[in-house]
Amino acid sequence: MPAQAPAKLPVRRYHPVLVALHWLLAFLIIAQLAGGYFVVSRMPNTDPAKLDTLKIHMMLGMLVFLLMLIRFIVRLFTAHPGPTEDQTHGLGRLRTPVHLGLYLVVLLMVSSGWATGYLISEAYATPGATLPADLPMLPSRVFHAWTALVLFLVIVLHIAAAVKERISGDKSILARMGLGARR
Ligand code: HEM
Repeated sequence: MPAQAPAKLPVRRYHPVLVALHWLLAFLIIAQLAGGYFVVSRMPNTDPAKLDTLKIHMMLGMLVFLLMLIRFIVRLFTAHPGPTEDQTHGLGRLRTPVHLGLYLVVLLMVSSGWATGYLISEAYATPGATLPADLPMLPSRVFHAWTALVLFLVIVLHIAAAVKERISGDKSILARMGLGARR
């Protein structure tokens, strides 16, 4: 008789690697938003130091993409908690679309940033060059800035939902993204 695969036991929390990556990505994405808006975009394009500052922004942005890819792969191969009770009615129905929206918007940020980085790569290849004066007008750059605003709003929505859950909802939902016993 062929051996039967053991039935998967339900878990209460996400895999620790997913939990760690969730919080690391949250930190990196918020730092990228703040750094991009308050530091990078405020430096004049003629400032030679902007090349290095922008390079750090671009490298961290690509790191976000790499970590998201790793997280996605780990998610495919690990057990995670099932749908929550409130997921079928009221505001709970927004949970899945908001999570998918977050993934999509971050991917749009990375791809529009990458396209802009490609268009300005000449400045990095030519010694003594500065960034092109028309950088703020590049369509991918304009798209990157508007997508940053959308990302900011989706993150606010995500945090507001978590705070509401913490105050008046089912506290076990937040514990799903914490460390501790999974069963
Ligand atoms: C999660 C990922 C990322 C976030 C949250 C983010 C965020 C931002 C923000 C908020 C700005 C300023 C927009 C404004 O002026 O209002 C910006 C600018 C920019 N970002 Fe990103 N970014 C990300 C990834 C990337 C990547 C991967 C690249 C390139 C490989 C990149 C390249 C750029 C460039 C070239 C600018 C324009 C700088 C300027 O015109 O002064 N970004 N980013």
